Amino acid sequence: MINLNIGMIGYGFMGRAHSNGYNRVNNFFDLEYRPVLKAVAARDKEKARQFADKWGYESVETDWRKLIERKDIDAVDICTPNNLHKEIALACAAAGKMILCEKPLSMNGPEGEEMVKAVEKAGVPNTVWYNYRKVPAVTLAKQLIDEGRLGKIFHYRANFLQDWTINADLPQGGAALWRLDAAAAGSGVTGDLLAHCIDTAIWLNGNINTVNATTETFVKERKHQLTGKVEKVGIDDASIFFCRFGNGSLGLFESTRYARGHKALYTFEINGEKASIKWDLHDLHRLEYFDYKDEGKLRAWRSIHVTDNGGEHPYMDHYWVPGLQIGYEHSFVNHVADFLESLAKGTPCPPTFRDALETQYVCDAVLDSAKANGMTREVKHA
Ligand SMILES: NC(=O)c1ccc[n+]([C@@H]2O[C@H](COP(=O)([O-])OP(=O)(O)OC[C@H]3O[C@@H](n4cnc5c(N)ncnc54)[C@H](O)[C@@H]3O)[C@@H](O)[C@H]2O)c1
Repeated sequence: MINLNIGMIGYGFMGRAHSNGYNRVNNFFDLEYRPVLKAVAARDKEKARQFADKWGYESVETDWRKLIERKDIDAVDICTPNNLHKEIALACAAAGKMILCEKPLSMNGPEGEEMVKAVEKAGVPNTVWYNYRKVPAVTLAKQLIDEGRLGKIFHYRANFLQDWTINADLPQGGAALWRLDAAAAGSGVTGDLLAHCIDTAIWLNGNINTVNATTETFVKERKHQLTGKVEKVGIDDASIFFCRFGNGSLGLFESTRYARGHKALYTFEINGEKASIKWDLHDLHRLEYFDYKDEGKLRAWRSIHVTDNGGEHPYMDHYWVPGLQIGYEHSFVNHVADFLESLAKGTPCPPTFRDALETQYVCDAVLDSAKANGMTREVKHA
């Protein structure tokens, strides 16, 4: 087995999710490569050491540049807030390191272009953690669409709804609340939540050509945790857009952190001439399917429990027995497995930086359209 030495930068929510993926992957998948948790980089040495001990990293660095310079690191995992993705990725490419980068790829399209250029010039394997593609029910949706079971697609609808920023006293910025600070996040729900919906949509239904959007910032000023001052809020709290896909279908997307009662309700529905599909993150192991060719008196939505093995359901051969589902964390295990398999085959691991740039362009067009009161914006293509 070949060791692949991982260096992780940032040890928050995604640092944990990815570490779990690296630690578990060889238990479930037969692979040529084995990730070895070599080092984690974070600014606070003591906290980094606690994280390293808990998840099995051999060493810590307090400067991410040092981690990238290390000869014993093969692949760098970028788990920091969005404003650091570009600088770290460019340094990794220059050092010839493979890169697994969190989403969104970058703060905006132009930054993303630089990153794509750098990794492609350096020829380093790269992937972006749009992990919902790796949920078996979502991968099954992709298979059903590619098999032509839906026929011509008319509609694509997606929502990503949360409710955790309604409190106007919540500050912005700093360690826990960087998502509310435009300087660290780039945008609000557009880059944070809609980016997931857009990546899945492009994967399932092809490129988006035009968008019309509106956004709102419900709480206009919040205290900034780093400056201690009340500052203007620069992110979008809610973002809604409709669009036209290249295949002629229409799309409708909504995302907000102000939908009281919803914690992480990511749903999508696709309506084709022959069949429709629905998926819901809260019930992530199920795919709802309606097939018009079913006999009339039995025709109805069916709920597929995506847990069969024997090749019936994607990824599930690697887990338990039919009927036993897997969860959120396994989307990261599956993503690591895909990355290692691609490495062994010498093929790209989608979504690559270039794939993720396509999503970045849609996000840019959405924010631009919203600024122009919903005027139509053409989407640039990667
Ligand atoms: N794929 C997904 O579903 C998903 C989910 C959540 C977050 N994300 C993405 O993952 C990234 C991180 O988000 P998170 O939720 O883990 O955030 P987090 O706040 O939980 O963790 C961020 C980490 O980055 C570290 N960090 C910040 N500045 C640093 C620096 N200069 N040097 C080294 N470390 C630094 C912080 O200390 C922290 O450990 C973001 O890009 C976010 O959009 C993706």
